[in-house]
Amino acid sequence: MKIDVLTLFPDMFSAVMSESMMWKAREYGLLDFHVHDIRDYAGNKQRKVDDSPYGGGGGMILKADVLTPAIEAVRPADKTPVILLSPQGRVLTHQLAAELSRQPHLILVCGHYEGVDERVRELAISDEISIGDYVLTGGELAALVLIDAVVRLIPGVLGAEGAQHRDSHADGLLEGPHYTRPPEFRGLGVPDVLTSGHHAEVDRWRRRQAIKRTWERRPDLLERAPLSEQDRAYLAQLKTDSED
Ligand code: ADE
Repeated sequence: MKIDVLTLFPDMFSAVMSESMMWKAREYGLLDFHVHDIRDYAGNKQRKVDDSPYGGGGGMILKADVLTPAIEAVRPADKTPVILLSPQGRVLTHQLAAELSRQPHLILVCGHYEGVDERVRELAISDEISIGDYVLTGGELAALVLIDAVVRLIPGVLGAEGAQHRDSHADGLLEGPHYTRPPEFRGLGVPDVLTSGHHAEVDRWRRRQAIKRTWERRPDLLERAPLSEQDRAYLAQLKTDSED
């Protein structure tokens, strides 16, 4: 996958993109990552990229005559998605990250200040994504969150043992609890089933724990999660037990 980012703050990407899984993805040749400084496309001596809004009011607006040519310089003549990170976009979910991970090329545009001139949206943006209902000072951290969520789903990035299919949200549920050695820590043990060696029992226990945790913490997710007859029976039992 190729990812191009347009930003006013290119340095914000260097640390995250040269550590851990993002670095590995690049090292393995699975991610071709490029950052472009929007200021390089400001065709004026002062490298001015923003201006005050028509009609007054506070804040500065990213200029259409800077940002649009910047996007056009990076975008090939194809249907590559050009995504603006903004609190007005559709909210990023695991499902959306999975869809994006199947694209060969993404262009991410980081807004800043009060926003971007609306004409940039009309001329050069194909999608708008938010990472949650709160406002950041700019799109850079949101772009990094999106890149991490997407790139870890590219086959090969997490290695052969990658367990993305078991992630929280991958099947519409939160993951249940995990344990590792030692078997006892400060008086707290490990559920017997996990050390029993019965794989089918372990799978059943994990499925139930995922349903339990989702019901306790994010019951809204259960309305959309694909549940089997057995799952539904377990959920009904959980609800009955909680009423006692
Ligand atoms: N820019 C500012 N706030 C944002 C958000 N919540 N998501 C994406 N981009 C943003």
